[in-house]
Amino acid sequence: MATLQAVSGMNDLLPADGQGARWHRLETAFRDTSVRYGFQEVRTPLCEYAELFQRGVGEATDIVEKEMYTFDDRGQRRLALRPEGTASAVRAAIEHSVLARDPVVRWSYVGAMFRAERPAKGRYRQFHQVGAEVYGDDSPAVDAEVIDLASSFLQSIGITKFIVRVNSLGGAETRARYREALLAYFAPHREALSPESQLRLERNPLRILDSKDPRDQAFKAGAPSLVDALTPEDRAHFDRVQGFLTALGTPFVVDASLVRGLDYYSRTVFEIVDTSGSLGAQDALGGGGRYDQLFTELGSAKPVPAFGFALGIERLLLAAPVEEEKKPFRVAVVAVAKPDENTTHAGVLALARELRMHGFETVVDTRFGSMKSQMRRANDLAAAVVLLIGSNELAAEQVSMKLMATGEQRSVPRAALLDELTQTQRAPAATGAP
Ligand code: HAM
Repeated sequence: MATLQAVSGMNDLLPADGQGARWHRLETAFRDTSVRYGFQEVRTPLCEYAELFQRGVGEATDIVEKEMYTFDDRGQRRLALRPEGTASAVRAAIEHSVLARDPVVRWSYVGAMFRAERPAKGRYRQFHQVGAEVYGDDSPAVDAEVIDLASSFLQSIGITKFIVRVNSLGGAETRARYREALLAYFAPHREALSPESQLRLERNPLRILDSKDPRDQAFKAGAPSLVDALTPEDRAHFDRVQGFLTALGTPFVVDASLVRGLDYYSRTVFEIVDTSGSLGAQDALGGGGRYDQLFTELGSAKPVPAFGFALGIERLLLAAPVEEEKKPFRVAVVAVAKPDENTTHAGVLALARELRMHGFETVVDTRFGSMKSQMRRANDLAAAVVLLIGSNELAAEQVSMKLMATGEQRSVPRAALLDELTQTQRAPAATGAP
């Protein structure tokens, strides 16, 4: 029978290659940083009604048009694996009326997202994001503070080679005016545009500016600038965002070509691009922006201003330096007993449990082979200390303690064992450290 494989673009994370520990550190660092910025974690389902993303992310976006994993819920309703977290979080905020209890809400999240894209380095079909969203505050200070959160989080995990690109798409009025200007500009060149951009011309001409197709480049360069179309209010908002970012010391560049691939944005948008070269073509570490219309579009009776971002965990790990693992202080308990000596085996298990309760990482080779094979296993698992117990030790309430780095072995009364281990752990020689 053919062996089964994981779905293309959906990856296993194996503990042996050290990736698990790196993921943990990254997620912990994100939780720590976002808590310091006043965020609380929300968890929403991996699966939603497909309509949420159609209405939220936008029908004409690549994500909804080509990349969503949708399926029928036993013929009842069309469901989708979430391609992103923003629409789900807004749905949850509306459904649970969270803004009725608190005028400003700061939510963060960590989780898997799904997009049926062509797999490549840094681009997967199941990928993971850390993200943060603020609801109920339309101040440019929020835009700056959240961009600053993203940027200081990157620094906290050792990513220093990146640029923050910012732009303003303006509010509804600007967008409508700019749409007209783009239509007027691109329409005479319709035939020369890529087929995809011809479609975009009808559905959302702004997205032509996002095109990577060589046929569109020459026309893109001469397109009217969005910045020129901003209303005085939008302009003032954007100026204040930049002023706050400067005051915070968060480096950024204004990039008038930045439009983002999701339809819900208005006013400030931003993207963080890796400049170390370690990501290749998929160099966007993350992005986000303001989405003041999304609550209303998803059925909120009251408009709620919102701002947020998400960063791709896999890409962060490609860009982040790999720190050296700290060697754990591990204790092995070994039975000096015949294979059927249950009392000794039970004694070993009980001692291991006690040590674990006191915070020591403790291993037991529960196959209970010969003492030699248990010692070999302890060595393979890089135990710093081995505790040997036989019937004599059990009767005398003692253990025989062997330091693996030096080979030194001595008897320790059970009552003194925890103190002895704590002292040994503090002594660098015990862990084999120089
Ligand atoms: P997005 O730009 O679609 O924005 O995704 C954010 C980040 O997720 C990307 O920059 C990238 O690092 C990562 N990412 C996206 N697709 C993939 C993929 N196929 N494989 C690996 N990584 C990927 C959003 O998702 C918005 N929800 C961000 C947001 C939050 N806007 C406002 N609030």
